[in-house]
This record gives sequence, structure tokens and C-alpha cells, in this order.
Amino acid sequence: MTATRDSDEIERLAANYSAAADGYAEFWSPVIRPVTRRLLEALPWDGARRVLDIGTGPGTLLGEIASVAPATAIVGVDRAFGMVARAPRTPGHLAVMDAMSLGLRRGVFDVAVMTFVLFHLRDPGAALAEVKRVLHRHGVFALATWGHDPVPPAGEIWNDELDAWGACDPSPQTRRDELSDTPEKVVALLTAAGFSARRVWTEGIEHQWDVARFIGLRTSFGTAKRKLETLVPEKRRAFLAFIADRMRGLDAADFLYRAETICAVATA
Ligand SMILES: C[S@@+](CC[C@H](N)C(=O)[O-])C[C@H]1O[C@@H](n2cnc3c(N)ncnc32)[C@H](O)[C@@H]1O
Repeated sequence: MTATRDSDEIERLAANYSAAADGYAEFWSPVIRPVTRRLLEALPWDGARRVLDIGTGPGTLLGEIASVAPATAIVGVDRAFGMVARAPRTPGHLAVMDAMSLGLRRGVFDVAVMTFVLFHLRDPGAALAEVKRVLHRHGVFALATWGHDPVPPAGEIWNDELDAWGACDPSPQTRRDELSDTPEKVVALLTAAGFSARRVWTEGIEHQWDVARFIGLRTSFGTAKRKLETLVPEKRRAFLAFIADRMRGLDAADFLYRAETICAVATA
């Protein structure tokens, strides 16, 4: 891929996240939060003075880091300005920054955290080497990424109906889960970047959506939101009335989300 196409892809991804920051924080963040919380609990926080949260999104982890390591200076960075703008003003310092090229000095941080970001990155190995650069010797790195992230049946029906109504995604995103979707691949990436993997494990997510929150998610975040917005307002209103009826006719099992994540703790 050329440098221009790379930067177009990053801009597109950042614009998509910026435009959906509220929806992400309200509807998606709570789904993955149990995994990120347990990852933070698995870290040795003793003596940690500076912590970096890479791809902080709406800053969900910042408060949790402050509660497990109160004496720590926290920095949250993300490529999407809209996400950073949505993050709480305290605790921590916030900056718009690309994970592939962190504008931070070498060897400064005791702990770095990257949750649900790696699968977005063009070159995950290079990104991990960049994390290692900003960690001090023996610094700790905590990672969570997707093993398997399926769309529940209600989501498939929603997508098919959007297609049938003539909607299309004006800004599709590339995911690269296949580079890091098993513990073995994550260990290989960490090792190649110069980390020692201390603990790598899989963790399931099971989330039972109710109809109202599922509609909230689909209309405010991700490809479904972008597709919906390509329908003219009158057609959009008609689609929403139609799909709400369709969703109410489905079973609870159609709204069950079952995913697998890969979590890792490594030392630099
Ligand atoms: C799925 S969200 C995860 C947010 C947060 N870490 C969490 O666990 O809720 C992915 C985040 O990664 C950010 N991101 C994607 N590519 C990035 C890059 N190249 N550099 C920095 N941030 C990036 C997105 O803007 C988005 O906020």
C-alpha cells in the first residue's frame, strides 16, 4: 500500500471514530469494559509513575487506571480528535497522536496499555516496536484485541435490510484481525517487537442486547450508522420505523453477542 493510501485510510478511520464518539461511549464501550477492567487488574502497578493509554478512545480506561494507581501520571492518546474531545478532562493528559508514530520520548513510561486498537493498525509489529520504544527497560505492556468479533443475527438482519433499502457505507474501514487473532500470533508479534510475553490468555465477552439499546448502537456507531446516513431523511425515517418493528419481532437469542478476545501482559 502506498503512503498516500495509508494516510487516507488513517484519516478515514479517525473521521469515522470522531463522528461516532458519543455512540461508542454510550453503547459499545460498556460491552468491552469488563475485559479491559480485568486486564488492568492483572497488571503490577507497584511503583508505576507514568502510564500511557494508546488509542484511549473516549478515555474509558483513564479513570480506572487512576483508581488502581492513584499516584500515577496518565497520558491518553488517540488518532481521532472527536474521541479525545469526548474523554474526561481529568485524570490524565490527552493528545491526538498516531500509534504508529508516537510523538513521545524514548523510555519514559512504566506502563503502556492498548485495548482494541491493534486490529486497526496497518503494521501491528511496527506499532508494538513503537510501544516498546516509549517504555523504560522492564516497563509493562498490556494488550487486548479481538480473537473473534461476530455480528449477532439481529445485526446481520439489520445490515441486509440496509442493503435492500439502498444504503451503502461511504467510508468503509479495513480491519486486520487476521494478524493478531490468536494467542500464538500475539506472542509472535510481541516477541518480534522485543517484548517478553508474561501472560497471554483468551477471554470471552457475552452481551445480551435489548432491542432499544441495540437500535441505539446501530444508529449511532459503526458501519450501520454510516450506511443509515446515506438514506435521504424521509427514507431514513421510514427505514427506522420499519427496522424497529422488525427488531421487535426477533427472539432474545438474535441479540446475543458472543465474542472472544486475546489479552496479553508483556515486559519490555
Ligand atoms: C475500538 S476503539 C478502543 C478505544 C479504547 N481503547 C477502549 O478500549 O474502549 C479504537 C480506538 O483506536 C483509535 N485508533 C485507531 N487507529 C489509531 C491510530 N493509528 N493511532 C491512534 N489511535 C488509533 C480509534 O480512534 C479509536 O478511538
